[in-house]
Amino acid sequence: MENNRGSWGSNLGFIMAAIGSAIGMGNLWGFPYKMGANGGFPFLIIYLFFVITCGVVCMGVEMVIGRKTGKSPVLAMSQLGKRYKIVGWFGVLSATIIMGFYTMLVGYAVRYMLGFGIQIFGASGFGGMGGTDFFVGYTCSPWVVLAFTLLTFALCYIIVAGGIETGIEKFNKVGIPALFGILIVIIIYNFTLEGASQGLVYMFTTKGMEMAGTEFNFITACRMAAGQMLFSCSLGMGAMITYGSYLGKDANISKNAWIIPAADTSAAILAGLAIFPAVFAQGGSPKGGPGLLFMTMHDTFTSMGWIGNVIGFLFYLLVIFAGISSCISLMEVTSAHIIDSSAAKSKPMSRKKAVGIVTLIMVVLSIPVCLDQLGMGSIIPPFYNSFMAEGSKDLLDVYDLLSEGIMMPLGAILMCLIVGWKKGLNWMEEEVELEGNKFHTKKFFHICVKYVTPLVMVFVLVALVLSYINV
Ligand code: TRP
Repeated sequence: MENNRGSWGSNLGFIMAAIGSAIGMGNLWGFPYKMGANGGFPFLIIYLFFVITCGVVCMGVEMVIGRKTGKSPVLAMSQLGKRYKIVGWFGVLSATIIMGFYTMLVGYAVRYMLGFGIQIFGASGFGGMGGTDFFVGYTCSPWVVLAFTLLTFALCYIIVAGGIETGIEKFNKVGIPALFGILIVIIIYNFTLEGASQGLVYMFTTKGMEMAGTEFNFITACRMAAGQMLFSCSLGMGAMITYGSYLGKDANISKNAWIIPAADTSAAILAGLAIFPAVFAQGGSPKGGPGLLFMTMHDTFTSMGWIGNVIGFLFYLLVIFAGISSCISLMEVTSAHIIDSSAAKSKPMSRKKAVGIVTLIMVVLSIPVCLDQLGMGSIIPPFYNSFMAEGSKDLLDVYDLLSEGIMMPLGAILMCLIVGWKKGLNWMEEEVELEGNKFHTKKFFHICVKYVTPLVMVFVLVALVLSYINV
C-alpha cells in the first residue's frame, strides 16, 4: 500500500516543490507592501526574527512528522497520538478553504497575463480601461472570474494528478528557476527607469511609512510580520508534513529547514524590487493586496508604453508560477489525505480519482467566493459582517480568518507542543540524524520547539484573530 504513495525523485526536487509552495501571492502582494508600511528595515529585522524562531523551527517539525510517519496530516498526527488527529484535520480543512479563494486570485493573474500578452501584438487586452476600472469591471463579472478560476483548477488538477515526481516535482523544477529568472529580468529593467530608487526608499527606510500614510507601531509590525511569515512559509497546516512524507530517509531535514524559509524570504525581497521601483517610477502609490497586484501594477505597465506589455506579461506569468506552485501544495494536502485514508481502510483509491474529488470540493467552495465579487456581491449575511473589522468584510476574508487567522497558528502551536513536550526532542533528533546526517542546530531547535516558538505563536494567534474582528 505504502508504495502507491509515490516519492520525490531527489532532495533537490523536494526543495524546489517546498520553495514553490512557500513562494506565492503572500510574497508578491503581502511582504513588500507590509515591509514599507511598517517601518522598512526594522520590519525586515522583526520578520527575520519570526522566520528564524518560528519559520525554520515549524518547518523542521513538520518535515520530521511527515517523514517519520510517511503519512498525510490526519493519519500522521493520529500516529503520534489518537487525540492529536484534530491537528491534522485543521490542516486538511485549512488547505481546502484556502484553495476556495487562492485559485480565484491566480485566475485573475491568468486573465491579466493574457491581456498583456495580446497587447504585445497590438490587440487591446483590457478594452482600453485603466487599472481600477478594469479591475472593478472584471471582479464584478462573476462568471468570467469563475471561468478563469476553473481554468486554474484544471491546471492544478493536471499537475497534482500527474503524481509526486512526475507532476508536482517536474512542474516546480521548471517553474521555480523560471520564477527567479523572470524576477531578475524585471528587476534589471526596473532600475533603468527614472525615479526607481524611490522604491528602495519605500521598502528599506522609515520614509516608507510616510509614503504609505502609516505610522510605526511595534505590536502591529510584529503581528503583520508573524502572520505573513506563517502564511508565506506554508506552515501550520501540514503542507510540509505532506511534502515531507514523500522525502527519502537520506535527505538532510535540518538543512532543508533553513534553506526553504531563506529562499522564501529572498523571493519576498526580490518581489518588492520587482514591484515598488516600477510603481514609483511610473507615479503610482503604495498599496497591498489585490489592489497592488492588479490595479496599481496594471497602470504601472500601461504607462511604460509598448514594452510595458512585455514586462506585464512576464510579471503575471511570474505570479502564475508562484500561485500554481502554491495551489498544488494545498491540493496535495487534501488529496494525500484521501489517498492515505482510503488505503488505510483497505479500499485504495487511485491518485487521479482522489485528486478529482478534491478538485470538485474546492471548486464548490470557490464558487461563492467568485460570486461574492470581493464583497461587492454581498453574499455574506449582514449579521456576520457586523463583527468583521472594516476592510475584512467579504467572503474571502471569512475564509482567510478561518484558515490563516485561526487554524494555521493553532496548528503550528499544537505541533510544536506535541513534538516538544509529548514526543520529546530525542524523537525528533533520531529522525533528523538518520543515515549519518548531522543536526548542527540541535540546541537551537531544543529551546525553540519547547518554549520560544509556542509562546511567540500564541501571541500571533491572539493578535491575528483580533485584527479580523471588531473589538
Ligand atoms: N505560501 C503561499 C503564499 O505565500 C500560500 C500557501 C501555499 C500556503 N501552501 C500553503 C500557506 C500551505 C499555508 C499553508 O502565498
